[in-house]
Amino acid sequence: MKKIAVGILGATGVVGQDYLQLLSDHPWFTVTFLAASDASSGKSLREATLNRWNQSEKTLQQFAEMPISQLDAIESAKRACSFVFSALSSEAAQLYEESYAAAGLPVISNASYHRMAKDVPLLIAEVNPEQTAIIPVQQKNRNWTRGFIVAKPNCSLQSYMIPLFPLHAHFTLKHLIVTTMQALSGAGYPGLSSLDILDNVIPYIPQEEEKSEVEPLKIFGTIEGHEISLANGITISAHCNRVPVRDGHLACVSASFEKKPTREEAIDLIRRFRGVPQQLNLPSAPKIPIVYQEENNRPQPRLDRNRGGGMAVTMGRLRPCPVLDLRFVALSHNTLRGAAGGGILNAELLLRQGYLEES
Ligand SMILES: NC(=O)c1ccc[n+]([C@@H]2O[C@H](COP(=O)([O-])OP(=O)(O)OC[C@H]3O[C@@H](n4cnc5c(N)ncnc54)[C@H](OP(=O)(O)O)[C@@H]3O)[C@@H](O)[C@H]2O)c1
Repeated sequence: MKKIAVGILGATGVVGQDYLQLLSDHPWFTVTFLAASDASSGKSLREATLNRWNQSEKTLQQFAEMPISQLDAIESAKRACSFVFSALSSEAAQLYEESYAAAGLPVISNASYHRMAKDVPLLIAEVNPEQTAIIPVQQKNRNWTRGFIVAKPNCSLQSYMIPLFPLHAHFTLKHLIVTTMQALSGAGYPGLSSLDILDNVIPYIPQEEEKSEVEPLKIFGTIEGHEISLANGITISAHCNRVPVRDGHLACVSASFEKKPTREEAIDLIRRFRGVPQQLNLPSAPKIPIVYQEENNRPQPRLDRNRGGGMAVTMGRLRPCPVLDLRFVALSHNTLRGAAGGGILNAELLLRQGYLEES
């Protein structure tokens, strides 16, 4: 198959650089357009990422001389590529993502700005691949012909929403208490000052708890008529902490369900779970989406974040909860599964579902 030309908006940031790394030898997609803020546009990628290149030297060599365009160079983007990945800040996403979609370029977004729009899928490919069926409604609502926006949830959610999905499907989730320990790379570059985070934990990440208490309801929501309705009957309490870990968001979860699962039933479901990306054998899909580890001291970010190429969730310590029904610990790589890798997997799914054109 001829590779499909793609663009990256926000190519110079932490997530944008992950896109470049993951797309450097992707079997279906080839990068032909890069854009970022006015501070970077007009420079080559090498110049724009001087002193903040975070990926392999080989990937830098491959893309070093590619020019960074201005974000409003949408006509150039249209000539250069078929769709774009957006790794823009939320403010820039608000300014530019709709213009790309309106111009006929589908936008696979990592930013939070469109996540809760009722006609925008909030997609985790293993969990709610059917939510993409709202795309024709979105195009009709907004008078767009070829373009559309698909969003990916907050980076910390992947670690626990993927394990919760098979449990919810069988036992129906009611209450969820989640405490996240989130890595530094989740704050972008340069992120927090070392003097603030070394030897410390910061028990506040702006807007993160609000997102963590509402996005799961949309992920488990259903298409009703012309919108995605939020799942009913689930209450969520979230605590989000920034910890001195480089990559990998860890979540401690307690959950109650309408039907009561035993520990053994829950672990059996988790171990057997495979989603649509595994059935379709998508290139970025981990063969085993949730790896369950029996050791009491796992998962750990340093040991487990790169499992399945950074795309698998590692789970452990599933046991009865004396307050709710079950509790467990889960981990996923925030900039891979939680950002660029998740975005690429979503694009692979959209291509196989026929929403993206082959060339
Ligand atoms: N880091 C994670 O783990 C993670 C996970 C999931 C989702 N996300 C989301 O992904 C997006 C990117 O995150 P990041 O960590 O890669 O952030 P980042 O390192 O700060 O990079 C942000 C990118 O957006 C561009 N940008 C910022 N403000 C802009 C503006 N006003 N106008 C135009 N361009 C602007 C920057 O261009 P310059 O380099 O030229 O300034 C850069 O390319 C954010 O929406 C974030 O919430 C991040």
